[in-house]
Amino acid sequence: MNNRILVTGGTGYIGSHTVVELINQGYEPLIIDNLDNSNISVLDGIEKITGQRPSFQELDLLDEAGLNSFFRLNEGIKAVIHFAAHKAVGESVQNPLKYYRNNISGLINLLSEMQKNNINHLVFSSSCTVYGQPELLPVTEISPIMPAMSPYGNTKQIGEEVIRDFCNSSSLRSVALRYFNPVGAHHSAEIGELPIGVPNNLVPFITQSAAGKIGPLKIFGKDYNTPDGTCIRDYIHVADVADAHIFAMHRMLNGKQSSKFEVFNIGTGKGTSVLEAVLMFEEVSGIKLHYSFVDRRSGDVEKVYADTQLANKELGWKAQRDLREMLRSAWLWQQNLIAGENA
Ligand code: UFG
Repeated sequence: MNNRILVTGGTGYIGSHTVVELINQGYEPLIIDNLDNSNISVLDGIEKITGQRPSFQELDLLDEAGLNSFFRLNEGIKAVIHFAAHKAVGESVQNPLKYYRNNISGLINLLSEMQKNNINHLVFSSSCTVYGQPELLPVTEISPIMPAMSPYGNTKQIGEEVIRDFCNSSSLRSVALRYFNPVGAHHSAEIGELPIGVPNNLVPFITQSAAGKIGPLKIFGKDYNTPDGTCIRDYIHVADVADAHIFAMHRMLNGKQSSKFEVFNIGTGKGTSVLEAVLMFEEVSGIKLHYSFVDRRSGDVEKVYADTQLANKELGWKAQRDLREMLRSAWLWQQNLIAGENA
């Protein structure tokens, strides 16, 4: 009973890797997910890796009655790790209400139920998008929050504010983790990213293109003010991101927080350009990628990478895996997916 951790969005990309790590550390994760952007087969992958099939309930955070009965039926939850949210930047511009309704109302419903059930520890998925294009790099947690570049980004900013205010008026304690660019897959290649349709993000586009599932990569912009003219990001292995949640949870549960609401950057601290990522992928996969340069993508920031000192010092967490390992695992995962499709 005592080791129960609720994971919303636990069949999603980062959620599933975190569930694996929770099980590895002796916790009992309870997953709720509406399967809007994930597949129930993820549970098979988690079971293959850990030997345990986590508890799962298909549930939407907007279903207040369903959420209420979930908490009534599942007592003894120690903490909540909240991933469930929409995350496609472009779609959020087309359909902002979908994003505000799901990401904000869903969060409010979750917080209300947590309070009713006296559950006082929350890890929240935030994003480096809250910084926009920072003036100073690497970006620290005290850098100014810039006006959001998309409704999606705004839901992360508002989400942090809602939690901060609620912490101040209740027994809630929370850690928000601002992820930089999570990529890669579990080293077993049993779980990984499962984008629906043509991927928007760089690494799944690269692996699908290399596998011949989609056409050549288009590199958005070659005239940025960076050494090779392409954008710079802080790519971080999804398994390192997953680990950060366990460190954050322990910090709360062990009463180590310096304030009721804390935020930490979750990145490697190293900036990588799009071209560098492409070249590294070619090296680890032995495949020559086809790519061309096209116009800049609207809304892209030129460069962003994290100052991770606060997470290193306070959380005791540090990224362990390098870009080579990120791209190698992403490629293995893609190959495993194709093997499954052809089986
Ligand atoms: N890129 C390409 N071609 C592609 C896809 C991406 O050149 O087909 C480039 C982008 O222009 C960017 C870099 O690769 O320079 C990384 O792009 P991603 O889409 O992988 O990642 P983003 O940095 O744009 O997005 C991430 C998260 C979002 C978050 C955003 C905040 O995916 O959730 O960071 O900056 F909002």
